[in-house]
Amino acid sequence: MINGGVDFSSELALNEEVIKRLRAIHLVACGTSYYASLIAERAFERWCDLDIKVDVASEYRYRNIRLSPNTLAVFVSQSGETADTLAAQRRARELGAYSLAVTNAKESTLASCCDDVLLLKAGPEIGVAATKTFTGQIAVLYLLAIYIAKVRGTLTPRMEKELIDELIRLPYKIEATLEREHVVEELASNFSGSQSFLFFGRGISYPVALEGALKLKEVSYIHAEAFAAGEMKHGPIALIDSNVPVLIVAPKDSLHEKTLSSIKEAKARRAPVIAVGFDGDEQLANDASHVLYVPPTREEFSPFVTVVPLQLLAYYMAKKRGCEIDSPRHLTKSVTEE
Ligand code: F6R
Repeated sequence: MINGGVDFSSELALNEEVIKRLRAIHLVACGTSYYASLIAERAFERWCDLDIKVDVASEYRYRNIRLSPNTLAVFVSQSGETADTLAAQRRARELGAYSLAVTNAKESTLASCCDDVLLLKAGPEIGVAATKTFTGQIAVLYLLAIYIAKVRGTLTPRMEKELIDELIRLPYKIEATLEREHVVEELASNFSGSQSFLFFGRGISYPVALEGALKLKEVSYIHAEAFAAGEMKHGPIALIDSNVPVLIVAPKDSLHEKTLSSIKEAKARRAPVIAVGFDGDEQLANDASHVLYVPPTREEFSPFVTVVPLQLLAYYMAKKRGCEIDSPRHLTKSVTEE
C-alpha cells in the first residue's frame, strides 16, 4: 500500500515487534545492486534511528561481522543468484541475523533462502547492464526505510506523506528526463572518442556517480572511474586535463555549493565538464561546459532522476562506438561463481 501510507505488514513476516527491537541494518550486494544500496543507506540513516552498514557481498562474507537477531541483513540482488550474495546471506543467517531478500526474481535461490522477501516487480530485464532494476531497488529500499522508520516512530505521519507524494510524482519526472534523450545523444557524439572519463558526486550523488561510471565502462568499454567529489584534491585531480571529460552529478541540494567548487576545480584544469543538475540552475550553465538538466525533486530522491542521463550517456556512447549494448563482452546477467 502506498497512497494511504507505506505498510508491509501483510507482505513481510518481519513484524512490528522485531522492527522495534532492531539495532542495525546491513545492506549487502554486488555491482549495481551495491550502488543502489549505498543510495538507500543515506535514506535509512536519515529516517531510521539505526546503525547502517553497507558492504559488497564478496567482502562481507569473509569479514568478522558482528550480527545478532537484532540485525536486519538485507541482501539486494536483481537475479537472486549471485554467488557472493548467496554466500553472504548463508553466513549472516548462521550468525543469527534476520535475512531479507530484495530481488526481481521470485523463484530465485536468494528468495528461497531468506526469512523474508520483497520483490521489485520490475519485469524481466533483457540487457545485461542493470538499469530499470537499479531504480526498482532504490524504490523498494526507500519504501522499506519509510516503513521501518514509521514503525519505530522516527518518521512523522506528515513527513511520510510528503515522501510518498513525491515518490508518486517521480515516474513523471523520470519520463520527462527520458524525453530529453536527444540532448544526451548529441553530447555522446562529442565525447565518443574519449579514452577515459572521471565521474564525481557528493552525498547521495556519490553512488550515482559510481553507477554512471560502471554503466559507461560496461557498455562502451571506455575507462571510467568515480570518486566522492570531496576526494578530488586527494589524488584524482592529477588525472584531470583537457582530454579527460569530467562528469559531475550536481543536483541543487544541501551540498550544492561544494559541488560547484569541484566543477570550478575541474574547469580550471581545462577539463570539459558535464554537469547533471536541476532545471532552473543557471549557475551550472555558467560553470560547466555542458549541462544535462533533469526535473527537480527532494534531495533524497535526486538519484531517481540524475541517474537517467548517465544511463542514456552510456547507451549512446556505446551506440556511437558500435558496441553490442544488450550483451557486453565478458559479462553475464548473473555471476553464479565466485
Ligand atoms: C551492472 C550489473 C552487475 C550486477 C551485479 C549483481 O550493470 O548488472 O554489476 O548488478 O552482478 O547482480 P545481482 O543484482 O543479480 O546480484
